[in-house]
Amino acid sequence: MEAFTIATTPLLHFGTGKISALPGIVKSFGSSILLVTGRQSFFSSEHGQNLLEQLNALSLTVHHYSVNHEPSPIVVDTAVLKFSPHAPDIVVAIGGGSVLDAGKAISAMLPLNESVKDYLEGFGAKKTHPGTKVPFLAVPTTSGTGSEATKNAVLSDVGTYGYKKSLRHNNFVPNIAIVDPALAIGCPPVVTATSGMDAFTQLLESYLSTAGNPITDALAYEGLTLISTSLIKAYQDGSNMDARTGMALSSYISGITLANAGLGLVHGFASSIGGFYNIPHGVICSTLMAASNKIAVRKLRQRGDPGRALMRYGRIGKIFAGLEGKSNEYYTDFLIWLMERWAVEMDIPALSMYGISSSDFEKIVNATDNKYNPVALDKDELIEVLSIAH
Ligand SMILES: [Fe+2]
Repeated sequence: MEAFTIATTPLLHFGTGKISALPGIVKSFGSSILLVTGRQSFFSSEHGQNLLEQLNALSLTVHHYSVNHEPSPIVVDTAVLKFSPHAPDIVVAIGGGSVLDAGKAISAMLPLNESVKDYLEGFGAKKTHPGTKVPFLAVPTTSGTGSEATKNAVLSDVGTYGYKKSLRHNNFVPNIAIVDPALAIGCPPVVTATSGMDAFTQLLESYLSTAGNPITDALAYEGLTLISTSLIKAYQDGSNMDARTGMALSSYISGITLANAGLGLVHGFASSIGGFYNIPHGVICSTLMAASNKIAVRKLRQRGDPGRALMRYGRIGKIFAGLEGKSNEYYTDFLIWLMERWAVEMDIPALSMYGISSSDFEKIVNATDNKYNPVALDKDELIEVLSIAH
């Protein structure tokens, strides 16, 4: 067995009703909190109203910052400039992946009071962050990105010369995560679908990653089992608590596995496409998942490679097929077919709907990294993936 390292994971409070623990936890850190939420604020919900009343009853000073889209460095810098004079004792982010990533980056940049741009991986001044931060509590309200368990915050500046880069440090894993599946009840079907497909992608890519280890394997397998029984049900009936619970847990697990095993080609595309175009991360993953895996499996088979990756595809396909006695090849083909079917069933839009044209493929492919994909696709194969998903 190869040597490996597992980063810390948050102190996790998981389960329906766990949101009620938040005020007491926050109070234990001090009297001033910076609350980061989304545009469709958590506070317009019943949970949000209750929470505000409880925070006020504890005489906590609450500063509020709203994040409207996938965060850019300016969104983070603005918050740091505005709130560092207040020296919050804890940053609490309640929302989807964009909100959690913004909160995570703000908590990391408050002690430095510099532009986050200089600390992004492989970008700008490439400064090394010392890992100091204001304590950070993450509360996901969608099930998908797993940001509540990861050590990076993804920031982007979208445009012709755009980029999507990470602020990353082992210390940036949230100190605490409250994962309450009931918070996702109001999540619209399109968000349930695309964020759920993101979690699915993250778990599968971790399981197939060339940088995985026995612990991420075990977690990813369990996460994928939850996806197989929960995603479509959560999409079809957003009030199904068993399905919401399965998705909340699989999303959290996907954060642990991606942080420790890395990701594959779909997330390579998500970085390049997400930098050039204003397309939600979950949509990019949902759109490209079937095509990327289809071409990867074809290449693995062309190699005549009976090895690790194809065995793993088959093992996961078997979970989703729910059938005994079929060949590894059957299960693998079933898995790819299911990805295609789910994309149709959940009305996942094609990339062309977002203004991507085939003349853009070259630019996208040149900026796309295979990451830890079990087989590296060449330029022609990457263009083929985009053509299928277009
Ligand atoms: Fe993702």
